[in-house]
Amino acid sequence: MNNLTSSLEFSHFPVMLNEVLKILSPSSSEKFIDCTFGGGGYSKEILKFSKTNVLAIDRDKKVLAEAKKLEKKYPKRFKFHQSKFSQLEAIPFDNVDVVIFDLGLSSIQLDNFDRGFSFKSNKELNMTMGLNEISALDVINKLKEPDLKQVIKILGDEKEASKIAKNIINHRNTKKIKNTNELVRIIEQSKKKNNLSKINPCTKTFQALRIFVNKEITELIYGIIHATKKLKPGGKILIVSFHSIEDRIIKYFFTNFSKNKSRPSRYFPETKVIDTALFEQYKNRILRPSNNEIKNNNRSRSAKLRFAIRSKDSFEYPFDLIKKFKNYLDLESINV
Ligand SMILES: C[S@@+](CC[C@H](N)C(=O)[O-])C[C@H]1O[C@@H](n2cnc3c(N)ncnc32)[C@H](O)[C@@H]1O
Repeated sequence: MNNLTSSLEFSHFPVMLNEVLKILSPSSSEKFIDCTFGGGGYSKEILKFSKTNVLAIDRDKKVLAEAKKLEKKYPKRFKFHQSKFSQLEAIPFDNVDVVIFDLGLSSIQLDNFDRGFSFKSNKELNMTMGLNEISALDVINKLKEPDLKQVIKILGDEKEASKIAKNIINHRNTKKIKNTNELVRIIEQSKKKNNLSKINPCTKTFQALRIFVNKEITELIYGIIHATKKLKPGGKILIVSFHSIEDRIIKYFFTNFSKNKSRPSRYFPETKVIDTALFEQYKNRILRPSNNEIKNNNRSRSAKLRFAIRSKDSFEYPFDLIKKFKNYLDLESINV
């Protein structure tokens, strides 16, 4: 572990904490699920309110020490499970006031170079958040070229995916690709030089691999469905997301399963009346971090916060969400 990560508290800024606390109003709510415990930034703030009860989960066993401290401090009000949020249904904690997701990597994970998430590191390719079936080492050395190309293109929105995938295959045919810096070199050699681009040439490929290794889109889709099932009427689901695929899914879910969804086209009369809806009217409002927060924590710059309120209608499984984003689910389920 490097100095930056020697203390969880030292390196971690909970993103949009003030905005999150305002929406989840811990002074008047009781039951919370923090689906992405991380450094515990949100859980710790919620627990400062004496009536609150928090179930926190995280797939990363590295957060256990911090979670144990909170379990000791609040034995009756805080419980941690090392689990993936797609498995939320199996945890007996229901009828909750608020479920919160703060997606992606924590700075603790990104700054720990041993985990191979950063293209600035020179460590073994890994990128696992925890409870994984595969690592980036498997993906880079075993995935077939067309699949690798699709992963980089679709999950990374990388225009030069074809060339990058081809060059990865050429390299691994002569020698196993083991470290992040070997992959960095291959990507840099594959991409056209673009001096105007502000982003590092490796950003998109590394993002794609991380999403694929951790099946982040599958996790998000099943996580938000199960979280919604756990909410009581009037309960809130809050999600902080960091890239456009995530935001598209969240927006679609909140809009299409809310009471404001009914008219398929403005040219046709109202033909499809939705009589049950998971959420109340959804305002399609996105909250963003303040300039001050972005100044203090550059990683917050792409954060988007959306929230929706559970209606009184009974829970009906949103099959249409699965159907709509089936291409991502299929892509993430490719065997390596
Ligand atoms: C951005 S951090 C959360 C930071 C936290 N809000 C805080 O204030 O300290 C995201 C955390 O979610 C965890 N995570 C990501 N995907 C997950 C999943 N599918 N199931 C459970 N935990 C997940 C990661 O391991 C990471 O620790």
